[in-house]
Amino acid sequence: MDRIAAGSANPPPLRTAIAGAGMIGRVHLDAVRRSGAPVVGISASSPARAKEAAAELGVPRAFDSSRELVTSDDVDVVHICTPNDVHAELAELALRAGKHVVCEKPLTTGAATADALAALAAATGRVAAVPFVYRYHPMAAEARARVLDGRAGEIRLVHGHYLQDWLSEPGDTNWRVDAVAGGPSRAFADIGSHWCDLVEWVTGHRIAEVTAVSQTVARDGGRPGTEDVVQLLLRTDRGATGSLTVSQISPGRKNRLWFEVDGARTSLAFDQENPESLFVGSRGENAAVLRDPATLSPAAARLSTVPGGHPMGYLDCFAAFVRDVHGAIRAGTPTTADAPSPGGGSSPAEPAFGFPTFDDAARMVRLTEAVLASAASRSWKEVS
Ligand SMILES: NC(=O)c1ccc[n+]([C@@H]2O[C@H](COP(=O)([O-])OP(=O)(O)OC[C@H]3O[C@@H](n4cnc5c(N)ncnc54)[C@H](O)[C@@H]3O)[C@@H](O)[C@H]2O)c1
Repeated sequence: MDRIAAGSANPPPLRTAIAGAGMIGRVHLDAVRRSGAPVVGISASSPARAKEAAAELGVPRAFDSSRELVTSDDVDVVHICTPNDVHAELAELALRAGKHVVCEKPLTTGAATADALAALAAATGRVAAVPFVYRYHPMAAEARARVLDGRAGEIRLVHGHYLQDWLSEPGDTNWRVDAVAGGPSRAFADIGSHWCDLVEWVTGHRIAEVTAVSQTVARDGGRPGTEDVVQLLLRTDRGATGSLTVSQISPGRKNRLWFEVDGARTSLAFDQENPESLFVGSRGENAAVLRDPATLSPAAARLSTVPGGHPMGYLDCFAAFVRDVHGAIRAGTPTTADAPSPGGGSSPAEPAFGFPTFDDAARMVRLTEAVLASAASRSWKEVS
């Protein structure tokens, strides 16, 4: 018998547990608490680290291992916030134990495993989501609304970059640099996937074909790592062309995700480091449309939880994502990307918001493999 019966009048709290207490584990913790659900347990790289984190963060239970956490009878929803190579095993264990799962990106380090996990999620009927959270910036949602309602016109061109600098010095390192813990792709899987998910979501196009070059710089310690840079050209399934630069070695660029989509009527550009406005370009006057729920499209206004002039950002995206995912669990919504999500899809011009699912994330892992294969063979590759 399902403890979380869909639509129940007095639903019990969604007992949530978080595997991994690093940077993003703490962001999930904040978002879960903001959604009103209790965080009942946490795990870390060792039992001692889990105890320290639980005490520091005010979480009642420190699990000795993440395996124990994801299969615990006392947990309804599992958030997997560990290094990449552990995602697949924990997500599979959690789904088989009947949990709803939020798993960090990249979903897995290989496409076959990602597809198998997406199929398992569908078979279990559990909500299985991946935090491609830039979808939850109100002005990114505004861009999508303007594509969907035709104000942008047919999208002809997509372009942009995602740049960071935390690996630009020779001594810089992190578990992500290691091809086992991080996976065979680093820069693209880590951040390029965010850009591609966001631009596909905004435009409704799917990246169908890519040709990529990559670059890996020398690091202290000598071992060649995974790629620091990917630059690619792309074609979409609906005939648009595009380009993307992904880098983790661009001094001064901290988290510069920027895209532009150029339609037949207007161009729309969004910068996640300055997320309170959307550039709208036209042959007449150009505009910087400011975030103001009174004037935005319904999908963007829904995400604007404070009035204009009160800046929102990354943590608010996470909170909105978790709100939607936990709402879908409560509503008993299936895991498919086009399932109605709470608050979305109120008019024909505006389909359901669609929180990112394991299907979406598996697609990004397949795209990552196409990018790596293209760079290795110096040729165009289709995205399966
Ligand atoms: N969606 C996003 O915007 C976003 C942003 C940052 C990171 N991430 C993803 O989140 C994951 C974690 O990244 P991070 O930045 O928090 O890294 P981090 O290094 O800050 O934290 C990872 C933590 O996991 C711990 N750990 C290692 N093995 C573990 C295990 N088996 N069980 C529990 N904990 C374990 C490590 O000790 C570390 O404290 C990665 O997959 C990354 O790609 C996503």
